[in-house]
Amino acid sequence: MPFPAHRPRRLRTTPPLRRLVAETRLGVDDLIAPLFVREGIDSPAPIASMPGVFQHTLESLTNEVAGLVDLGLAAVILFGVPVTKDPLGSAASDPDGIVQVALRELRDRYGDEIVLMADLCLDEYTDHGHCGIVTPDGRVDNDATLQRYAAAAVAQARAGAAVVAPSGMMDGQVAAIRAALDGDGHQDVSILAYSAKYASGLYGPFRDAVDVTIAGGGTRDAYQQDFRNRRESMREIELDIEEGADMVMVKPAVTYLDVLAEARQRFDVPLAAYHVSGEYSMIKAAGERGWIDAPRVALEQLTAVKRAGADAILTYFAREAAEGGWLR
Ligand code: PBG
Repeated sequence: MPFPAHRPRRLRTTPPLRRLVAETRLGVDDLIAPLFVREGIDSPAPIASMPGVFQHTLESLTNEVAGLVDLGLAAVILFGVPVTKDPLGSAASDPDGIVQVALRELRDRYGDEIVLMADLCLDEYTDHGHCGIVTPDGRVDNDATLQRYAAAAVAQARAGAAVVAPSGMMDGQVAAIRAALDGDGHQDVSILAYSAKYASGLYGPFRDAVDVTIAGGGTRDAYQQDFRNRRESMREIELDIEEGADMVMVKPAVTYLDVLAEARQRFDVPLAAYHVSGEYSMIKAAGERGWIDAPRVALEQLTAVKRAGADAILTYFAREAAEGGWLR
C-alpha cells in the first residue's frame, strides 16, 4: 500500500501545535474602531442596519473610548453627524463642529493612550451628500474641494487629531492637506490616506449611520474607483505616498484582497484596510438568522485581511473582537 510521503496534517493535530505554527495573528494592536458621534441627541441612537453600532452622544462616545482604552485597542476613527448640513459642509471645519468638540474632549482624557483619528471628508456635512463642492451643473469640483479639506484638516488637528484620514478621493488631497497642516504648525499630525477607495455597494449601512443621501443619481462613480480596476489602485497609492501620506488604505477589505496583497508587495508604508459597513452588516444579518456563526466568520475575514497584508484594520467588530477573546 502506498503511504503518503509527506504529511502536513501532522502540524494540525492539537490546538497548541496549530497555535505554534500559525502564520497570522490578529491582536488589539491591529484594530481601529470607527465611531459615530451625533450632535444634538440626548442618548445613543442604534443604527438599524448595523446591529450593535450606535450614533453616540458626546458622553456615550467618551465612555465607549474609555472602554476601548481598557481593552488595549490601538486607535479610533471619528465620524460626525452634524445638526446642520449645507452646500459647503461648513461643520466639517467649524471649531465647534461635533467632531472637533469630541476630539478636544478625547485628547484631554485619552490622547496619550489611544490614537485619535478623524475621517476627513465633507459628505456627512453637505446637504447634497457629496464628498466635495458641487458645481451648478452637478459635478464635484476637485480643486474647490481641496480648500475645504485643507480647512477641515487644520480644524481637526487643532482639536487634537493625531491622524487625519482623507476619504473623499479628490486628486491632490494629500498634498493639499499636508501643506495646510504644516502651515498651521502641525508637522507631527499624520495622514492616513484612503488611497484605493472603490465606489462600492458595501457602504450602504454607513450612509444610514451618518444620515447621508446622495443627490443627483446617488453615486460617487465620478470620484471613487471603478471596481473593475486593480492597476489603477497602485497608481493612486503611489501618488498619495509621493504627496506625503504616512499610511495608506485599501477600502473595502474582503472584496479587494488582491489589491491589498499587491499593495503590500509594492509599498513599504503602513497599510490599512477598511472592513466596511456592508461587510459588517452581512455577517451580522446572516448570523442573526442562524445561517452562519457570525463571530467565527468575522474572525476568519479579519484574519484574511491581515494575511493579505494589512498592518491595521478598521472594523466595526473591534470591540466585540477584543471583548470576546477572539484575539491572540
Ligand atoms: C466618506 C466615507 C464613507 C465611508 C467612510 N468614509 C462613505 C462613502 O464613501 O460613501 C464608508 C465606511 C463604511 O461603509 O463602513 N466620508
